[in-house]
Amino acid sequence: MLPLIAPSLLSANFLKLEEEIEMVNRSEADWLHLDIMDGVFVPNISFGFPILKWVKMVTEKPMDVHLMIVDPDRYLEQFREVGASIITVHYEACTHLHRTIQAIKQTGAKAGVSLNPHTPVLLLQDIINEVDLVLLMSVNPGFGGQQFIEQTYRKSRELKTMILEHGSDALIEVDGGVTLQNARGLADAGVDALVAGNTVFSSPNPIETIHQLKHC
Ligand code: DX5
Ligand code: ZN
Repeated sequence: MLPLIAPSLLSANFLKLEEEIEMVNRSEADWLHLDIMDGVFVPNISFGFPILKWVKMVTEKPMDVHLMIVDPDRYLEQFREVGASIITVHYEACTHLHRTIQAIKQTGAKAGVSLNPHTPVLLLQDIINEVDLVLLMSVNPGFGGQQFIEQTYRKSRELKTMILEHGSDALIEVDGGVTLQNARGLADAGVDALVAGNTVFSSPNPIETIHQLKHC
């Protein structure tokens, strides 16, 4: 199976946002990954609803919204209204994760949960049948262009085993430091979807880079 590719708009040139999104439209990308940071859960602030509304008007790819925010429950409806197809919250930001996952599904979006690098996969065993996607962070969230953390391969294999044992349909997505060098290894470790920011948007030929990631 070819991995799904989700270019992360965080690394795009925001002065040319329409062109960047149209490039993704023309490419073999499957989703458009959108990083929402609040300056509290992570030490950075990215963008919010006004930008997402404009993105929605141009993108032809499903919007894969990654919430790096505290108290995400407050905003789930709004993220759906501005076009999110997938809404992923952080395990570390949700006291009542089960309730939050149900609330995401009630909006009509697919529900994802993300784990920071230090959070063990094992903690998901009682929620794995409820989620549509698990996003494994392969860097500490907050910034694009960071170095890939190698233990992600093992975490992905562990997660794949858990998914199969529980008969879950959850997809595995990896986010952070994905390159043309590690994409194949990740797919072999059970990863279904690869997020790539810097690798795509700093490439001289992003469409070709997306093609290479897809056929890694
Ligand atoms: C990091 C974000 C990522 C980021 C990935 O906190 O969640 O989605 O955009 O960027 P790269 O691929 O450059 O590591
Ligand atoms: Zn992300």
